[in-house]
Amino acid sequence: MISKRVQRIQPSKTVEMTSRVAELQRQGREVLRFNVGEPDFATPEHICLAAEEAMRQGFTKYTPVMGILELREAISRKMEEENHVSYLPDEITIGAGAKQCILAALLAICDPGDEVIIPYPCWVSYPELVKLTDGEPVMVPSKADFTLDVSAVKEVVTKRTKAVMINTPNNPTGAVYDRKSLEELAALAVEHDFYIISDEVYEKFVYGGNPHVSISSLSDGIKERTILINGMSKSYAMTGWRIGYLAASKEVIRAVNVLQGQMLSCVHSLSQKAAVAALTGTQEPLQSMIREFEKRRDYMRRRLSRMPGISCRESMGAFYLLPDISGCYGKSYRGITIEDDMRFTEYLLEEAMVAAVPGSAFFAPGHLRFSYSNSMEQIEEGMDRMEQALNKLF
Ligand SMILES: Cc1ncc(COP(=O)(O)O)c(C=O)c1O
Repeated sequence: MISKRVQRIQPSKTVEMTSRVAELQRQGREVLRFNVGEPDFATPEHICLAAEEAMRQGFTKYTPVMGILELREAISRKMEEENHVSYLPDEITIGAGAKQCILAALLAICDPGDEVIIPYPCWVSYPELVKLTDGEPVMVPSKADFTLDVSAVKEVVTKRTKAVMINTPNNPTGAVYDRKSLEELAALAVEHDFYIISDEVYEKFVYGGNPHVSISSLSDGIKERTILINGMSKSYAMTGWRIGYLAASKEVIRAVNVLQGQMLSCVHSLSQKAAVAALTGTQEPLQSMIREFEKRRDYMRRRLSRMPGISCRESMGAFYLLPDISGCYGKSYRGITIEDDMRFTEYLLEEAMVAAVPGSAFFAPGHLRFSYSNSMEQIEEGMDRMEQALNKLF
């Protein structure tokens, strides 16, 4: 009785891992969690206070479908200043998280059989969200250093290409796309007249002084074809508040608003007020979060790189590392032989109580995704435990 559409969709592998770890913790086992894709920091105090204040003032009713004007104005100013691209408040719509905005965008542009090109490794949800809209995900490899391979994208463009979905900084690789490759992709999109869905939720987490470039800032032609996705979850440690947003041409926004009106009515009113405070208030908590992430990234990468059988590429952004663990293949301990990244993830969980996500969930077999959104003490402890588990294999 369940629809074929839903039967085609895989459950989220990262959500599965989170449930597995929660179960082990319930059994009293001390699992160190490097599988989680959310900042371990608390939502800054001034943001929580804004929501509290709004509740006391009775701001608890439906809001406009596309979100309150105050928030869309704040986002418009932010994009002008930080992303160097102008979107009017009515070219912006608020959704229940970036994920929901991506789904709304895909529903707005995809007909059955339309193709959406997705460079991989990529976030687990992209191909599934495309399938939900009856579109066809077309997976293309990134370069060996995980950056965007525009020539690989070009090879798979057809008449049915509706969009290319990019994510910079990238989950799970930490790659940050440079201006040149984005310019090349933009030229391709304009030439073949397809959309770019640009997921920029990790934009604040770029290390080593490199810039984050929003593809829509590159020209009017590409701005017209870009659906820019962003949100509050990662930048302001607000994952549970469920605020994302989408900026696009008026035509796309009109279609998205029709959908959102039928699917959502509006996003949580208090979260919208909290998001205004996040964007217009002090950015100091964000800056200290970035500094802390950079320290953890450097430490974790150093430790991983020294372990037998592991090689770990530098990650320029987001809060993930994606070490290659294929050097451990064929090694055994206590009857477990490491044959693939799934087995390796199991081994780490069993032998070291260290949780990570198998790279194959992100189309990166032979790798493991580690999130460093965990305290330095836990990272040190986790790396010690992992090293001991690896020493047993070698
Ligand atoms: C690349 C990417 N996009 C979007 C999201 C979802 O963000 P939100 O919490 O705003 O739905 C995530 C969350 O892990 C992500 O990694």
